[in-house]
This record gives sequence, C-alpha cells and structure tokens, in this order.
Amino acid sequence: MKRLLLLISVCVLVPFCGFSQKAERLAQTPPMGWNSWNTFATDINEDLVMGVVDCMVSMGLRDAGYNYVVIDDGWMAKERDANGNLVPDPVKFPNGIKHLADYVHSKGMKFGIYNCAGTQTCGGYPGGRGHEYQDAMLYASWGVDYLKYDWCYHGNLTSDAAYTTMRDALYATGRPILFSICEWGDTEPWLWAGEIGHCWRISGDIYPCFDCEDRHDDGLPTQWSAWGIMKILNMRNNDTLRKYAHPGAWNDFDMMEVGNGMSLAEDRTHFALWSMLASPLMLGNDVRKTSKQTLEILTNKEIIAVNQDELGIQAFRYAKQGDLEIWAKPLHDGSWALCFLNTGENPYKLTFDWGKHVLKDSLFNKEIVFANTACTVRDLYAKKDIGTTKKNLQATIGKHDVLMVMVKPLKK
Ligand code: GLA
Repeated sequence: MKRLLLLISVCVLVPFCGFSQKAERLAQTPPMGWNSWNTFATDINEDLVMGVVDCMVSMGLRDAGYNYVVIDDGWMAKERDANGNLVPDPVKFPNGIKHLADYVHSKGMKFGIYNCAGTQTCGGYPGGRGHEYQDAMLYASWGVDYLKYDWCYHGNLTSDAAYTTMRDALYATGRPILFSICEWGDTEPWLWAGEIGHCWRISGDIYPCFDCEDRHDDGLPTQWSAWGIMKILNMRNNDTLRKYAHPGAWNDFDMMEVGNGMSLAEDRTHFALWSMLASPLMLGNDVRKTSKQTLEILTNKEIIAVNQDELGIQAFRYAKQGDLEIWAKPLHDGSWALCFLNTGENPYKLTFDWGKHVLKDSLFNKEIVFANTACTVRDLYAKKDIGTTKKNLQATIGKHDVLMVMVKPLKK
C-alpha cells in the first residue's frame, strides 16, 4: 500500500516539479559577462548593446569566458500594458527585447535582463511584485538566460520568500535561467540564497575608487552609499561568507569597475581580488572603448582560470600585516593562488620566506606546508615563472597593487 501511495505521488508530483534550475547545473563556476549599469545606468539602447556584443566578440572577451550580456535597469517603459505585461521602452529598444536576445544568441552568447522583487525597480520602472509568473513567462518567451533581481521598494516583503517566488516562477517556465539575487547583503543572503539563486550580492553598489565611500544623501528619503573596492572587500566577515560559496552558488562582490577610472594598479588589484573571491566577473565598462591595458587585465587567462577553478573555493585572508595582505585560494590540482596586496600609499618591499609558511584552509580541509612541499612560483600578471619556493620571494609591490602568483607542487 505504502509503495502504491509513493508511486501515485511521484506520478502526480513529478510533472509539476520535474524541472529545476539547480538540476541544470547553471553557474558551476562564477558567472562571467557584461552588465550595462556601472557605465550607462538607465541610458541604454539596442545599438549600444549590440555594439558592446560585437566588441566582446572581436576583442576576445567572449572567448575569454564573458558570455552573458545583461541589460540592467532602464530597459522598460514606465507602465505595464493593459494586460499587465512589461513593455520594453519603444525608443530605446524599438525592435523589442527578443530581437536583441536573438542577436546575442547569434553570436554564441547568452542574454540577461533586470527587474526587481519590489513594486518598482530602483530606477522607478515597474517592479515584479505580484507579476512574477507572468514576467517569467515573458522573459522565457524572449529567450532570456539570466535574471538579475533587485530589492528596491520591497515594502513588507520577506527576502527569502520573495526570491523563492521568483525562482519558482522561473522554474515554471521550463527554461534554464540563471538567477542573480541583488539584495545587497541586507538580510544575510549567504544564509538562504544558495538554495534559491546562483549568486547573491553581499554589498551595496560598487564605485570606481580604491577605498572611498560615495555618499548619496541629496534629498532622497534614505541615505545610501556606493563603495570602493577595499570597502566591499572588508564589508562582511569573509570567513563567514566563504562557507556558503560553492559550484552553483556564489557570493557576488558586484559588477566590476575595471577600466572605469581607477589607476592601472587598482584595476589589477580589483580583478585579482574578484578572481580570488570566486565572485561573478561581470564587466562594467564601456567595452567599445576598452584600452589595451584594460583588455590585457580582463583577458588574463590564468587569472580567469583561478576565478573559474572547478573546486569553487573562495579565497581567505591568510595574513595582514601593516599595508600587506596575503590572500590564498586552494585550486583543484593541488596548486594555490596567492595574492600579495599592498593597500598602502607607498611601494612595499616584500620578502617572503616560503619555508616558514603553512597555508591551512580548515574549512575546506586544504593545507600546504612549503617546508615539505617545494613548488614552482608563477607571476600571473607578468605571465612568467619566477622561481621556486626553495628561495625567498622578493618583489616590490607598488601602491594599491598586487603580486598574484600561482604555486604548484613540483613533481617528485
Ligand atoms: C541597485 C543595484 C544596482 C543596479 C541599480 C539599478 O542599486 O544594486 O546594481 O542594478 O539598482 O537601478
């Protein structure tokens, strides 16, 4: 009898819950792509996005792994139509969103879109609240592969419940859609979001500066700030956060500001850290105007490989002494990525005696004792082998710059 009941419930329930995004294994490594917000805010349109797509292809960004093209806030008209459907802004997107998504797909890339769990988006466009299933069906009909879902005007909503509703709506479409939760870390999303989405923001918005706070209190009902990269790095307890990152579920340190006005050293640091932290790597610059140096940072294959490592372990801060921080990330083949960061205003003279150091990641049960395990050392920005751990590592690290190395055990 019990067996019969089980069989009946399986037959009845499976058709309704047979599809799940998690089963689709989306985002087994941190998502990579481009998002319109950091440079263009709501000033976006079809020509711009198509131009960005073309450049991502011709500059090798797509082939380096940046495969999602995401339009953020500002793509909609201010009102839903008479049937309650979202309407693309007819001036910005005269051919509709499906046309744009088709274009992105024709280049072998994936297409993403933005909305918000509240009644309005942060930019004041129609939010998703109460329309979750209708919107999800519309996105799927357009060929959307990625949804970034924000948290403005959420009123009395409970975050995990609101995001669960949208996740279920996405499941119901039957289309695999990566779900990027943008709740700014307000209600500790690392505790609940891994079951709901593929990544979750851990902070308010990023700002292209090394360590500043960009305050916005000009007449708005609530003061808010955008944050420099060091502020975002230190906003939460990384030892708490890193427990929750794993293939399919990532802490999101926000879209990148590489190429948006920081110094080259700061851009290098930003990219190295986001890679070490296994954060999504979403470009936030005007790709059409990427300089050679910026492109070199963003397409550094060996650093991208650290970000995309299949173990999916988020780096930890191994040491902090004065202006020097050392971040460490265990990789799948027994190698480790190490990032020596100079947060100070002056060049830092580094002498690192490997033999005295043991990297121990108790959380993920990884350890390397350099006194017992000799390794080769490779400088990932210089793309050069620079010796072995049998010799001290000596380098001068410029202001706000990093030395990012990979250490690989020598074959015995
Ligand atoms: C919030 C998000 C940003 C961006 C804007 C759009 O501030 O955190 O990333 O999506 O909304 O209005």
